[in-house]
Amino acid sequence: MLALLSLGAVAENLTIAASRFGIGTKTVLLPDPTQPNLIMQIRLQAGQTEIDPLWRHIPLRHTNRRVHFRGPKMTDAERSQLDAAARTYSACQLVWLDEPNRRRQALRLMRQAETERFHNRILHEELFSAIRFDAGWRSACSEGLPPGALGVEPPLRAFFALLRHWPVMRLANLLGAHHMLGWRACDLPCRLAPHLGLLAVKNTDNQAVFDAGRAFQRLWLGVISQGRVFAAHAGLGLFALEGHKRRVFRQACSTNLAESWKASLDGAIPLMLFRIGRAQPLSIVAGRWEVGNYLGNNK
Ligand SMILES: Cc1cc2nc3c(=O)[nH]c(=O)nc-3n(C[C@H](O)[C@H](O)[C@H](O)COP(=O)(O)O)c2cc1C
Repeated sequence: MLALLSLGAVAENLTIAASRFGIGTKTVLLPDPTQPNLIMQIRLQAGQTEIDPLWRHIPLRHTNRRVHFRGPKMTDAERSQLDAAARTYSACQLVWLDEPNRRRQALRLMRQAETERFHNRILHEELFSAIRFDAGWRSACSEGLPPGALGVEPPLRAFFALLRHWPVMRLANLLGAHHMLGWRACDLPCRLAPHLGLLAVKNTDNQAVFDAGRAFQRLWLGVISQGRVFAAHAGLGLFALEGHKRRVFRQACSTNLAESWKASLDGAIPLMLFRIGRAQPLSIVAGRWEVGNYLGNNK
């Protein structure tokens, strides 16, 4: 699900970037059933499109994982800009969780899901395998997540790095480390953020999740264009899994909570939680490949 969302974000970036040169795109997900490895096809059409002003913000788009995002809050016009970004794709729905009751309800669920990311071996592996501890805390790297971009407070860094080893994590969980980490990684920053929202889909077929990724990218770039910062919290996607898959994750299988939550969204399925506000940029951010690297790989 996360890979499809990310692929959608990539597709939208390419469409926006191509528009800068007046090039239109026609993107098809899984275009040929006889070639399952061909995941996406993009046809470029010269002179076919208007320039999308979001292109300027693509290189500036990063995740900001600082705990505290400040106000001021968005104006109605700014919020409408983001609503319009999400509406570009009809499969998805943008839900704001700024009203205290809704926020409390969302955070109850998120606490479960994010705690599970440190408690379940598969999710723990997925989370920590993306982090490039070999880069150290003070440098960026062109692939994967540099630890310096995580916003972990200096006194906690050595402990956090140790937790990448599953036996250590498991031992620490006996003392409740997963609860502490879930609270610190998601609950606290989301509580403090001026804006909290989620992207939901009507169903979880490939096309809907892919389109949600496209909308997610437009939304994120829209936030950057407003001079604000953005952080994603993907744990919510656990609740989008079907019952039998969700039961693999012990704590996240509180079906009642998840179902009542879906009911409050008129049956839509929440995929991604995000927070928005203002904050100093982090000095270390995830790097990008040089263009030459892609060309080199093609040879
Ligand atoms: C579908 C998707 C899910 C993501 N989920 C999370 C998440 O749960 N926690 C987090 O800290 N970052 C999350 N991110 C942010 C990525 O880690 C980040 O975009 C990537 O490492 C590149 O770094 P950058 O955003 O700073 O350029 C997510 C991004 C995408 C596209």
